Amino acid sequence: MGEKIVIFDTTLRDGEQSPGAAMNVAEKVRIAQQLEKMGVDVIEAGFPISSQGDFEAVKTIAEAITHSEVAALARANAQDIDRAWESIKTAKFPRLHTFISTSDIHLKYQLRKSREEVMRIAAQSVARAKKHTDNVEFSTMDATRSDSKFLAAVIETAIEAGATTINIPDTVGYAIPSEFGELIRTLRQTVKGIEKVTLSVHCHNDLGLAVANSLIAIQNGVRQVEGTINGIGERAGNTSLEEVVMAIRTRKDLFHVSTRIVPKHIFATSRLVSKITGMVVQPNKAIVGANAFAHESGIHQDGVLKDKQTYEIMTPESVGISQSSLVLGKLSGRHAFKERLKELGFRLSEKDVELAFTRFKELADKKHEIYDEDIESIVAEEILRMPDRYKLVYLNVISGNVTVPTATVKMEVDGEIIQEAGFGDGPVDATFKTIKKITRTRSKLLQFAVSAITGGTEAQGEVTVRLEEKGRAVIGQGADTDVIVASAKAYINALNKLEYRKKELRGL
Ligand code: KIV
Ligand code: ZN
Repeated sequence: MGEKIVIFDTTLRDGEQSPGAAMNVAEKVRIAQQLEKMGVDVIEAGFPISSQGDFEAVKTIAEAITHSEVAALARANAQDIDRAWESIKTAKFPRLHTFISTSDIHLKYQLRKSREEVMRIAAQSVARAKKHTDNVEFSTMDATRSDSKFLAAVIETAIEAGATTINIPDTVGYAIPSEFGELIRTLRQTVKGIEKVTLSVHCHNDLGLAVANSLIAIQNGVRQVEGTINGIGERAGNTSLEEVVMAIRTRKDLFHVSTRIVPKHIFATSRLVSKITGMVVQPNKAIVGANAFAHESGIHQDGVLKDKQTYEIMTPESVGISQSSLVLGKLSGRHAFKERLKELGFRLSEKDVELAFTRFKELADKKHEIYDEDIESIVAEEILRMPDRYKLVYLNVISGNVTVPTATVKMEVDGEIIQEAGFGDGPVDATFKTIKKITRTRSKLLQFAVSAITGGTEAQGEVTVRLEEKGRAVIGQGADTDVIVASAKAYINALNKLEYRKKELRGL
């Protein structure tokens, strides 16, 4: 088994910094519960000073999570740190995470502070955090572009001030594995007191090296890895935690360490994050991509049929991928539905179960066979959403190869019913133009993608829509057996997210 590697998940903080991936409180709590179920040691729930919404989300997660540590991020100043503490003080295992940049580039152009000032601020902020809790993590932002002697000095100061975890971020994804390993080795050899703390890394993926850098760091003595599910995050994203976990597991012969992660929950967690954030997982993505275990060539198929080990270094079952199983049908009752929800990890109130059950019955009437993915989609659509400003009431589309596509849309806007009709180049275009007329949105459509949730022609179509307004991007999703209805739902979902973002910015 070897030593344990602490898995620190920042899907809800750094992951949410992916353009368009904003989540509401209920969605974040749902992800946090799934991360806890998967065995994540530390859940970074957000950056409480950044907005009232983020503060509320961190606070709600802190109250809901009982096994994992809940971390809140704070810049290195008293106001940020106190606000972060306010949000997590009720957590069973709270952690304050404070950071300051250490590279000359950041000091000169962003912080406009001298090295001496940064040293002083590092010591003061760790000491401030220590007044609230013993569990304090300190990060040296842009560590990999910092002068290594200065970096070592700041770390030493933070340890003296009481930091219990020291995190070395490759903030801009600049490091190459050999030099990153060397940096970790040098810090471990030269920084006084470093053996008393948990050494951590936080790698970004700008050169596609985040996982490689995290792994070399482990081989050089790091005992905490930070990252996100599906590798989402700022710019090219963060270390993909599922990849690190499975690399350590599959190559135990090289790493001699283990994690608390229960791998069979990886796939469900990946799907949940993708569904909620709207960030689609690329098909060839390692571990969780649709093709990760698909064997296409004849030679490979022949080998796998004879013995899976020929071309599989881990099994799809080990990460929780199984053939979609038929779970429920038209005649399934409330009890069976409730049980299935529980098995899928949803803890819903009676009222929400009832709401989901009604939607399930409607779907079963149209689709007959209901899969786990359909149930997840119902819960994401019906339960996890915030009270919406815009609701679809009715949609009728006339389309074909000899008619001008026409859409009639009835919507509820702030409780008022509005109906409009419009034409378009196709049924989706007609629908979107009519919704645009009703909502008077100024947003721009950046992306429109359709996929099927499960197999077969009667499968639900899942539509992802990406909108942008005043530089803010959001992703909306909708599912239905009718792709035009799914498109309308996705568009309206994205519009509601834009409204939610605007409200958040106004501090409402
Ligand atoms: O990338 C980074 O440096 C960060 C820190 C706040 C840890 O996200
Ligand atoms: Zn980061």
